[in-house]
Amino acid sequence: MSDATLFSPYALGPITLANRIVMAPLTRNRAAPGLLPSEHAAEYYAQRASAGLIITEATQVSKQAQGYQDTPGLYTPEQVAAWRVVTDAVHTKGGRIFAQLWHVGRISHVDLHGGEAPVAPSALPANTKTFVNNGFADTSPPRALETDEIAGIVDSFRSAAANAIAAGFDGVEVHGANGYLLDQFLRESANIRTDAYGGSIENRARLLIEVTAAVAGEIGADRTGVRISPVSPAGGIVPGDDEQPLFDHVVERLDALGIVYLHVVEGATGGPRDVAPFDYAALRARFGRTFLANNGFDRALAEQQLAAGKADLFAFGRGFIANPDFVERLKTDAPLNPLDPTTLYGGGAKGYTDYPALADTVDA
Ligand SMILES: Cc1cc2nc3c(=O)[nH]c(=O)nc-3n(C[C@H](O)[C@H](O)[C@H](O)COP(=O)(O)O)c2cc1C
Repeated sequence: MSDATLFSPYALGPITLANRIVMAPLTRNRAAPGLLPSEHAAEYYAQRASAGLIITEATQVSKQAQGYQDTPGLYTPEQVAAWRVVTDAVHTKGGRIFAQLWHVGRISHVDLHGGEAPVAPSALPANTKTFVNNGFADTSPPRALETDEIAGIVDSFRSAAANAIAAGFDGVEVHGANGYLLDQFLRESANIRTDAYGGSIENRARLLIEVTAAVAGEIGADRTGVRISPVSPAGGIVPGDDEQPLFDHVVERLDALGIVYLHVVEGATGGPRDVAPFDYAALRARFGRTFLANNGFDRALAEQQLAAGKADLFAFGRGFIANPDFVERLKTDAPLNPLDPTTLYGGGAKGYTDYPALADTVDA
């Protein structure tokens, strides 16, 4: 058994993380006009730079990829320049930062697309809500992507990954989780295509694998991670009965691409870890590099799973929202600030950059 702790450094491909605690991707709907990262984003992420690795809020690979109001992109020169300010601020504090790249697919609304339908594997509604026009609204019925549009989707991930490196990110995470486009393709409940991207497990996995291969080819497999959520009902996903063979296959293919980490949301995203039976160890066994686990962890559970060899890194979401010095608080078993649910999505600095660090509390 190794003597590694949550608080010791970790080599992730070509970069070294100061510890094994990762800030999970967290959408905050505060983008500035032009869908640039918020004017407060550099401060927000720099405050949290003691995380071993920060994964940004989900960031659009194209205009078509947007599903909520005020989420940032990485497909214009202005967005690249604005993200550069963020990555510089994090690096100045000694942190590391990956960009999470997403295409929302059917989790979207016509008002974000000039009245046009969102795109999806099939013309099947998500039966969930999105946030648009300053309120929650039903997602709009999507249209099915034509087969000849798919190469363009793959290329949008590739070019956004190139933009991420140009913006100074240490790498990117492909968002294959939580019911967004790549996850929609994986699922029988969302994908009834009859072309090479639907039907068998191999076919449903094809888009995620092609996107990941394109991103890794562009920026290097050692700077490419992928997030999946095998049994999460997030984003209107209706879990079927083939998650285990589906994700066993997906992970074998991802492993063959040599990507640097596999990020697994265990259970229902933000909900119970045991929502459905699933053998995560089977995924770990199929993946030769870093296994990043998320969902409902506290220090004790992360330490237990690290000691048992179940994961290498642990991502924390809600803890990092309310605690800029989350790592220090875990390390010293200090109490955590409570989360203000009313400031999660939208707004400005309140509930974003004004959560106090321990030092602020002591000074006060
Ligand atoms: C406000 C909020 C925004 C989130 N945004 C994203 C996102 O952009 N991308 C993503 O993959 N997951 C997102 N998630 C899910 C988190 O990354 C994480 O999986 C979840 O909070 C469970 O981890 P925790 O128990 O440590 O909070 C979000 C969660 C919350 C609470």
